[in-house]
Amino acid sequence: MLSVDVNYAAVCAVLLLVTMLLCYYFISNDRKGRGKIPPYVPLSVSEITRIYVSIKGLEKVCFCDRVKELLKNEPSVRSKYGITFRMPSMKVKYAFQTTDYEISRLVLQGSHETNIIESEKSQLNYVLNFLDPKVFNLVTHLTANKDREHARKAYAVNFSYSSLQKQWVFIETALLEEFTLFRSLISSDAKGVMNVKKEMLQFFLRILGRSTFGIEFTFDGTEQEDSINGLEYLEMQETMCRDRIMDVNIPYRWLMFWDANVRKGQVATKYLKEVSDKILFNHQKRRRVKDMAGRTPLIDLIDQEPYPSHIAKASDINILLFAGHDTTAFSFSFFLMEVVRHPEVKAKLLVEIASVMPKVPLGSDLHGRQEQSAESLPHCDTKLMSAITGLEYLNWCIKEAMRLWPISAFGSSRVLSQDLHVGEDLVLPKGSLVQSMFYSMFRGDWIDRANEFIPERWSTANPQLPQLKEMWIPFSTGKRACLGMNLALFQMRLVAAYFLHHFDFELTCEPTFEFFVNLKPDQLLMKITERVH
Ligand code: HEM
Repeated sequence: MLSVDVNYAAVCAVLLLVTMLLCYYFISNDRKGRGKIPPYVPLSVSEITRIYVSIKGLEKVCFCDRVKELLKNEPSVRSKYGITFRMPSMKVKYAFQTTDYEISRLVLQGSHETNIIESEKSQLNYVLNFLDPKVFNLVTHLTANKDREHARKAYAVNFSYSSLQKQWVFIETALLEEFTLFRSLISSDAKGVMNVKKEMLQFFLRILGRSTFGIEFTFDGTEQEDSINGLEYLEMQETMCRDRIMDVNIPYRWLMFWDANVRKGQVATKYLKEVSDKILFNHQKRRRVKDMAGRTPLIDLIDQEPYPSHIAKASDINILLFAGHDTTAFSFSFFLMEVVRHPEVKAKLLVEIASVMPKVPLGSDLHGRQEQSAESLPHCDTKLMSAITGLEYLNWCIKEAMRLWPISAFGSSRVLSQDLHVGEDLVLPKGSLVQSMFYSMFRGDWIDRANEFIPERWSTANPQLPQLKEMWIPFSTGKRACLGMNLALFQMRLVAAYFLHHFDFELTCEPTFEFFVNLKPDQLLMKITERVH
């Protein structure tokens, strides 16, 4: 009896082995027959590590450009619009970086024509839930998740153009405050020199707080029952980001109670949760007293949305607050920097803005009585808003600045749901992590004078325009594209028009940059002077 069992087991084992060998044979032949996997970057691991841990400077985001140089004699990495290469990774079998926008679009949005389905988000994104990595939020959920889809659809109302127009009142108040601040800077010992990164972070956080979350962020070090200390919030959010990035490589880091940085991270988590709670409770309190002035701001929609737990709701508030201010602040800072660096662009832009701006400056004694004037629209008029947001040259300038300085410089990453064939001989296998490197992609070799700021390249006279439009995805594309794109563009266009029309800006020294979580100016100092109209 025993010998029959042994023979039976031996036969099964041999069959299993043969099946495994056959599978391996067919799979590997399949790969050989249908395309080559792009090669590893020929850099040493220590070199790559050095680049990846660098925080200051642009070294990290220019990585692809260096690889491009190194691989220039390797035809298999080149497709029409850029290079694609393989990176060493401890987390997945294959990790690729691509600077080709056609590959990026296929990965990020799929294609009905060629039956390619949109790829999923990587599970590595879990670190972007700052309140509790075990709970999912809008950003960390998988695309297939129904709760995410439901919430995203519900929140889309807040980002429609008619809803955004109602936010003008908050932008106007913030602009008036900012103008007062600029004037006091001009008359102070600082002689009008502004630290653009710091100032714009505070400015856009203030607008987002009021318009979207119904809460005041203060920057004088104070905090009341219905306001949040903005300086503390910005510091804690920064600490949190640094902490979570460390968590990716050390999974049980939270157990390291002796590490001061771990403890700081825990304090930041607790603080950010309290901020989300405060925003929600403050909203609920005001809603009961019907203090919403006829609007349905995002916080109200979040409050109405069914969530599996309180922490899940708080996590969405936290991520929307995080995603909604520094992104716009840094993109706007880069826009201002490029306009200021190019006097001929600035001059053209000023003429275009002046053609629609009210004759009476914002905040002057006449402001409010200007409806009497037949010559121009009043400041808060919706027609004026449409006129400003529709300014062609201004839009080209913003687009061009976001092409050169995509704050999401490392782009979007996805995990392939199927093999992706590229051209004749390249294949990115199913299960691979593919990262689209926006910074290098938007400065591709195929673009005329790719590293120069030329807003005119967005005109229909440019034969490259169709390709440029396909390539321009600083807000990503597909089902996971940025939820706040309309809001960000709306705010940037209005603020740009008002800032440039009322004040003049000049660089005081060469700026420096940093990539940490996103691309940002490090030192960007500008001298402000008020324009006389
Ligand atoms: C210039 C400003 C902004 C830029 C450049 C930007 C860029 C991006 C990018 C590239 C993504 C996609 C990431 C990926 O594919 O994995 C994204 C996602 C997202 N953004 Fe933005 N963003 C900006 C402003 C905003 C604002 C103002 C908000 C909201 C108030 C916002 C909320 C979000 C959310 C919720 C997601 C996640 C969408 C999802 O996963 O379904 N963003 N953003």
